[in-house]
Amino acid sequence: MAKGFYISKTLGILGIVLGVAAVCTIVALSVVYAQEKNKNAENSATAPTLPDATTSTATSATSSSATTSTTPATTVDESIPWNRYRLPKTLIPDSYQVTLRPYLKPNEQGLYIFQGNSTVRFTCNEATNVIIIHSKKLNYTQKGNHLVELRALGGSPAPNIIKTELVERTEYLVVHLNGQLVAGHQYEMDSQFQGELADDLAGFYRSEYEEDGVRKVVATTQMQAPDARKSFPCFDEPAMKAVFNITLIYPTGYTALSNMNPKETKPLPEDSEWTITEFYPTPKMSTYLLAYIVSEFKSIQPENSNNDAQNSSNAVQIRIWARPSAINAGHGDYALNVTGRILNFFAQHYDTPYPLPKSDQIALPDFNAGAMENWGLVTYRENALLFDPEDSSIGNKERVVTVIAHELAHQWFGNLVTVAWWNDLWLNEGFASYVEYLGADFAEPTWNLTDLIVQNEVYRVMAVDALASSHPLSSPEDEVNTPAQISELFDSITYSKGASVLRMLSSFLTEDLFKKGLASYLHAFEYSNTVYLDLWEHLQKAVDNQREIQLPATVSTIMDRWILQMGFPVVTVNTATGDISQEHFLLDPESTVTRPSQFDYTWIVPIPFLKSGAQQQQQEEDYYWLETKRSQNADFKTSGANEWVLLNLGVTGYYQVNYDVGNWRKIQNQLQSDLTAIPAINRAQIIHDSFNLASAQKIPITLALNNTLFLNKETEYMPWEAALTSLNYFKLMFDRSEVYGPMKKYLLKQVEPLFEHFRIKTSNWTIRPDTLMEQYNEVNAISTACSSGLQECKDLVSKLYNEWMSNPAVNPIHPNLRSTVYCNAIAFGGEAEWDFAWGQFRNATLVNEADKLRTALACSRDVWILNRYLSYTLNSEYIRRQDATSTIINIANNAVGQSLVWDFVRSNWKKLFEDYGGGSFSFANLIQGVTRRFSTEYELQQLEQFKADNQDTGFGSGTRALEQALETTKANIKWVKENKDTVLQWFTANS
Ligand SMILES: *[C@@H]1O[C@H](CO)[C@@H](O)[C@H](O)[C@H]1NC(C)=O
Ligand SMILES: *[C@@H]1O[C@H](CO)[C@@H](O)[C@H](O)[C@H]1NC(C)=O
Ligand SMILES: [Zn+2]
Repeated sequence: MAKGFYISKTLGILGIVLGVAAVCTIVALSVVYAQEKNKNAENSATAPTLPDATTSTATSATSSSATTSTTPATTVDESIPWNRYRLPKTLIPDSYQVTLRPYLKPNEQGLYIFQGNSTVRFTCNEATNVIIIHSKKLNYTQKGNHLVELRALGGSPAPNIIKTELVERTEYLVVHLNGQLVAGHQYEMDSQFQGELADDLAGFYRSEYEEDGVRKVVATTQMQAPDARKSFPCFDEPAMKAVFNITLIYPTGYTALSNMNPKETKPLPEDSEWTITEFYPTPKMSTYLLAYIVSEFKSIQPENSNNDAQNSSNAVQIRIWARPSAINAGHGDYALNVTGRILNFFAQHYDTPYPLPKSDQIALPDFNAGAMENWGLVTYRENALLFDPEDSSIGNKERVVTVIAHELAHQWFGNLVTVAWWNDLWLNEGFASYVEYLGADFAEPTWNLTDLIVQNEVYRVMAVDALASSHPLSSPEDEVNTPAQISELFDSITYSKGASVLRMLSSFLTEDLFKKGLASYLHAFEYSNTVYLDLWEHLQKAVDNQREIQLPATVSTIMDRWILQMGFPVVTVNTATGDISQEHFLLDPESTVTRPSQFDYTWIVPIPFLKSGAQQQQQEEDYYWLETKRSQNADFKTSGANEWVLLNLGVTGYYQVNYDVGNWRKIQNQLQSDLTAIPAINRAQIIHDSFNLASAQKIPITLALNNTLFLNKETEYMPWEAALTSLNYFKLMFDRSEVYGPMKKYLLKQVEPLFEHFRIKTSNWTIRPDTLMEQYNEVNAISTACSSGLQECKDLVSKLYNEWMSNPAVNPIHPNLRSTVYCNAIAFGGEAEWDFAWGQFRNATLVNEADKLRTALACSRDVWILNRYLSYTLNSEYIRRQDATSTIINIANNAVGQSLVWDFVRSNWKKLFEDYGGGSFSFANLIQGVTRRFSTEYELQQLEQFKADNQDTGFGSGTRALEQALETTKANIKWVKENKDTVLQWFTANS
């Protein structure tokens, strides 16, 4: 599944534990993660009061996962096979014949349903007198005296059925037999059933939309992780691969799609209002990758693609599907443009042709994940596939190309070769999350996407992985059983840490060698299943077959350290002595690690490094392996005033780096005299690592701040982004105090040259710079300049916004700049500016546009306007319920709105809780959002009072968040106490 999965599911499933005394950047960094791929140029745009509007929407400080994922403490007898969540190995499926008929109108009871029948053919592997097959929420039609019919194929007849039962807890249909099935013999079992076509986004479900004022229904699927069983009875585990013959019966005039192409379509003989389509059999595949969709969607395909398909046997048919109005408006064109190229890229990359005859991409109005890699029929959330050239930004475009690349990467890695069980999900998702950058980079070669992985995955997940409450990448198989335990695996560690360590592996092996091993792995296991060790074995073979790359240990030995223990090291170098050491990095030095590690939190660390003078011509020998807690390397010894070393060149390694103060100084001097001596990605690293080290009290805060001094000469995105993310915590702590004046002045001084750089580059903001990162940094420049009070910036946004106000029919503001222009214009403006945006918000038809406006409306600095807006948030006529929390949090993110929201929450808690307690309202996010700035004893008292006052009402899903807020506030108080004077002095001296 694509990243987006946890955008939506975050709220319920995972939960970044900002917990136990989260200090400093923990908050600033981990909060970002919930946004995942939603991050783009607009929403990273900077509000005048908050340089990271990205963090403005919800994040999940806590979650209900604690309650949903724990297996209820029942007293079931686990020795009985149908009481266990894992299937016995007695029966192995061969093929299924499944016919499904979705009704797209409600029945008399007002229920949307589907009917189906299925025949599963399986081979008996070990003699057994019971058939256990998954089934969830399906109502069966009796066949004779039982729910199913069984027959043997050849050999002796099948034993008789004694009884059939449905076991709800483990989601099984259980068939008890009066004799044994015989090992080696094949059987077939028929069933007929009915299920609900619910709007629950799981299994076979329905999605709805309006077109020309008419409500339309789509029947579609989301099987991952274990919901194929909700559509028909099946052996619903990834290793139970089989051939699927799907037939759909659906209203005539609609289009039916599935993993394979249709074999035959004809009117249903008994009723021509229905059409029946039989699809070609699939290759052997896992149930979680099945898909079938009935819709009135429209598609586009490359010109001549039909001819190609006829003329050349290896041409793959590619189509983009969506609501007809979206297709007609050209919103599928960009996806069509890149899909074929990415598919070809991966065929080359894996040295394996695309295994299916076609690849459909379809955008669904209601979809839980970001996208799902169903083999041959990939499903997407609309914002992950559709791109509106008029009103979407480059950030939206980046999301489309990376999500497509992610899903197409799975078509081989994941679909053709599949991990045997969900505990290895990290390999599947981590891999796709790594190579999506390669595939997207191939489609958009000028965007430098492969570097963005550092900010988007590596740094983002480090913020979570640096907590004592983190967990290892790999889970033991027997710890993952229930559907809730499976769901819980879809977290940032699985995706982003998985991607980070696989990228590191590919980097120390070299991409070529990695590809060799990868292709060999795919060829060896096609159409079957693996465990992660199988990949290591094939990579090892590739290593053994050559002489250039020498590793200090086997692939498996090195990688064990990174996947079997949580966290990552900080590597410390003393350039006076050449000493080098490593230690488990914890953001909060006072936290205690309770999880033991068999490797004692020591890693085998690959260290490419750069020494001054060598410039960017990296020497081959400039590579070092740190294999023990401490060691020595003469290369790290420097002499002379200007000689420095820089470790983790290219930030290919998943670790942070610290130096002796002397080396830090020399790096700072280098950056201020000639920053080009250090690659941009490492300039970002210097900022990122030093702020984290300061949080962990490993270096003084002034050292980290000194690492931002070179920014007045910096024009690249990555260093700026690292700095703005790091400084956001300072802003939260100080934007209501005397520190904020000097801090703004400092930022203004640093950003002015950047603003000027882009003003010239864009001919006074009339054209966009060429590259993606430049476009992102243009937005950073404007938002930071405006929030730091640059008059020229204020004039610019006011002018643009006024132009729009005077002619609302034509929006002259480029989509990239909208979030930041709206927000700043509303902040600098008054009632008229706000009311205009409110009107535009109420009329917006494009969700992206509405979201930009809704966020910007919270940027006003007028107390009464913010108060009025706050009152609107609880009126679902104005703000959709699902957006209420994030809107309130947006207001709280505004320094002016913060106390309003806190008063509002305190005085309305009971009502809020009663009105919204059971629904989509996220109390956890609300509490976390409104307390982010808390850093005084007085605020701590208020928070404690709030807790005491509302004990009776309770805090529901916000209970854990409240405890965390108390902890965080205490940590903030401590941090501010320790650092405020120093920081004030520093900003004053440097502004
Ligand atoms: C399932 O339904 C289809 C279509 O009505 C029918 O042709 C087929 O025989 C049925 N199969 C079983 C096993 O009932
Ligand atoms: C299945 O049966 C239950 C119990 O009779 C009923 O409540 C439910 O609506 C049925 N579902 C469908 C889709 O028919
Ligand atoms: Zn995925």
